[in-house]
Amino acid sequence: MYGLRAVFGLGLLVGGARLGVRADSCLRTVGGESAQCRQYRTGTAMAGRMKYLSQEEAQAVDEELFNDYKFSVDQLMELAGLSCAIAIAKAYPVSSFTSSLPTVLVICGPGNNGGDGLVCARHLKLFGYEPVIFYPKRPNKTLFENLTTQCQKMDIPFLSEFPREAEIIDGTYNLVIDAIFGFSFKGAVREPFANILNILKRISLPIASVDIPSGWDVEKGNPDGLQPDMLISLTAPKLSAVHFSGRYHYLGGRFVPVALQKKYNLSLPDYPDTDCVRRLL
Ligand SMILES: NC(=O)c1ccc[n+]([C@@H]2O[C@H](COP(=O)([O-])OP(=O)(O)OC[C@H]3O[C@@H](n4cnc5c(N)ncnc54)[C@H](OP(=O)(O)O)[C@@H]3O)[C@@H](O)[C@H]2O)c1
Repeated sequence: MYGLRAVFGLGLLVGGARLGVRADSCLRTVGGESAQCRQYRTGTAMAGRMKYLSQEEAQAVDEELFNDYKFSVDQLMELAGLSCAIAIAKAYPVSSFTSSLPTVLVICGPGNNGGDGLVCARHLKLFGYEPVIFYPKRPNKTLFENLTTQCQKMDIPFLSEFPREAEIIDGTYNLVIDAIFGFSFKGAVREPFANILNILKRISLPIASVDIPSGWDVEKGNPDGLQPDMLISLTAPKLSAVHFSGRYHYLGGRFVPVALQKKYNLSLPDYPDTDCVRRLL
């Protein structure tokens, strides 16, 4: 398990590289501080203070939200998926896409991470994007069936098979959302997801990962795995987030009661005003 100092140290280095500023140049700044340095300083300070959760802690917080605080899965999934859509719209506004159709490929896995992806796709559609969903392993549960119907009734297409070549994805979409696995992922990736992740590793489009980059060990990451451009940590970042080297790291899921934050020493940063997402890096 990583110590807090290790987390802070890594966050500092990685954050500086991503923003194209050096820690020492910011420290030497005299007088007015550049916007980049300010972002670097506040982002890395926040990332350093925050608790990064182990897999066991993430699952314990999850269980407590459901069992003790009596949230339903639907409630939290709606807030999590909405947070993801908002963070994505901030990082990749429709106006930033060069193609005429703002197409987004949303890949959903078999658990709640996949459910977040379905909710995210529905909100992206309302925000003016053209999401297309690939959902190969659908749980036989009313919640997921309802989320699927909602998307279908909003004219969001579902692919019947995954594109065979990375080039096809690059040529058809502007962005890929990885909602395949979250904090319950364990062991070697099983099919059909191993093949999907292998293709995704070869695309040049940016990938936005929901909660955990899929195929990463929740605590140790995966240097040979996907390297997403964006990570949206839900509730609190997991330990693997220290290995994230993309451009955008957001925190979403502004629903954790203060008593639960205190119990797990989450030290979450304040969200701005009424926002349900906060940029960390
Ligand atoms: N309560 C919260 O704090 C909260 C709030 C908002 C959102 N969420 C979301 O919920 C997620 C966690 O949901 P979850 O517990 O349902 O877990 P998940 O990580 O979304 O999905 C777990 C499922 O993935 C499959 N899987 C796991 N390891 C695999 C492997 N090596 N190869 C292939 N398939 C594998 C298994 O499905 P099969 O058994 O079918 O193979 C497993 O049931 C979070 O990451 C977050 O996105 C949680």
